[in-house]
Amino acid sequence: MAERTPRPWGFWTRAKLDVLRDYLSAFLAASSGKAPYAVYLDAFAGEGSGIDRLTSAEFDGSPRIAAGAVANGNSGYRFSHLRLFELSGTRAAGIQAYLREHFPGRDIEVVPGDCNMTLPATLKSMPEAVRRSPTFAFLDPFGTELQWPTIAVIADHKRGLKYKVELWMLFSAAGLMRIAGSSPAKAAVGAEDRLTALFGNRTWEPIVDARRAGAISGADAREAFVNLMRWQLEETLGYQTTHALELKNAQGTSIYHMIFATDHPAGDKIISSLYAKAADALPAMADEARQHNTGAARLFPIAGEPSPPYKHDKPVEPEGFLASRASTQST
Ligand SMILES: C[S@@+](CC[C@H](N)C(=O)[O-])C[C@H]1O[C@@H](n2cnc3c(N)ncnc32)[C@H](O)[C@@H]1O
Repeated sequence: MAERTPRPWGFWTRAKLDVLRDYLSAFLAASSGKAPYAVYLDAFAGEGSGIDRLTSAEFDGSPRIAAGAVANGNSGYRFSHLRLFELSGTRAAGIQAYLREHFPGRDIEVVPGDCNMTLPATLKSMPEAVRRSPTFAFLDPFGTELQWPTIAVIADHKRGLKYKVELWMLFSAAGLMRIAGSSPAKAAVGAEDRLTALFGNRTWEPIVDARRAGAISGADAREAFVNLMRWQLEETLGYQTTHALELKNAQGTSIYHMIFATDHPAGDKIISSLYAKAADALPAMADEARQHNTGAARLFPIAGEPSPPYKHDKPVEPEGFLASRASTQST
């Protein structure tokens, strides 16, 4: 069989995976000594590796990073159970074979198929001692493949215990308005169902209506979608804290937000510091990409600077959020 060529990715993928790598080591360090097990869930496992668009170097994707993750410090503590999910049977088999070869003896399972269908049963089959263990879930879809019931099942997995599963998801806020379209006639096929599946209800509708009517800007619509998802994670699912960091490409166009949810003070503290670090690093990464694209160093700032410093704000009640943005737009 011909060798598979990994997909080329922009610098924002490197930024995302840097945060993942650092977070997992810190998560393991915080869990080490407190529980016999630590669990990693990866609902959109991918190809196993990618190619950096700038350097052409191959880099590890999330499954390899998680399997290789070791607690900060000297404990040698690692994830005891890794459960990965991947729609493509070929990719799932490829990841399983790679991880079996490079991490022999580890309890790693790659489940092929739609994670929205397969993940609940996998969680249900976990022995009680494993269910009670510190658990981190990475949800990294391309677009709107993640469905609200899957998020809810993950949040509910450790019901009755002090801390829920920590959850880190990629949220394509920019893609949502593209799917919804500037009018119902311009909506993508199945747009309404996809948005409803993602949020679990039709609370997205006022945002789309406001944007279509020109009452809010595109950036406000993105922020409103992010606010809505965070609001639901906190108010509906009961997470104590959520964080969101926006990633933009070299031209300043929004690519996605990374939304994190935890009810553990350590998780809150670690992600705050990693998001601040990432927000600091992103402008230089974007500059490097621009210089690579244009072959010249940038003399003056261009429109759409990539990333302001990271600042945590609580999500607010969605109707109020929208009303405040609409009034700003009209003044
Ligand atoms: C952005 S990639 C994941 C990248 C990976 N997390 C990494 O860091 O290397 C998204 C992956 O999700 C898979 N996918 C799409 N829909 C899915 C679904 N419903 N269930 C499971 N996997 C899905 C795609 O085949 C693709 O490989």
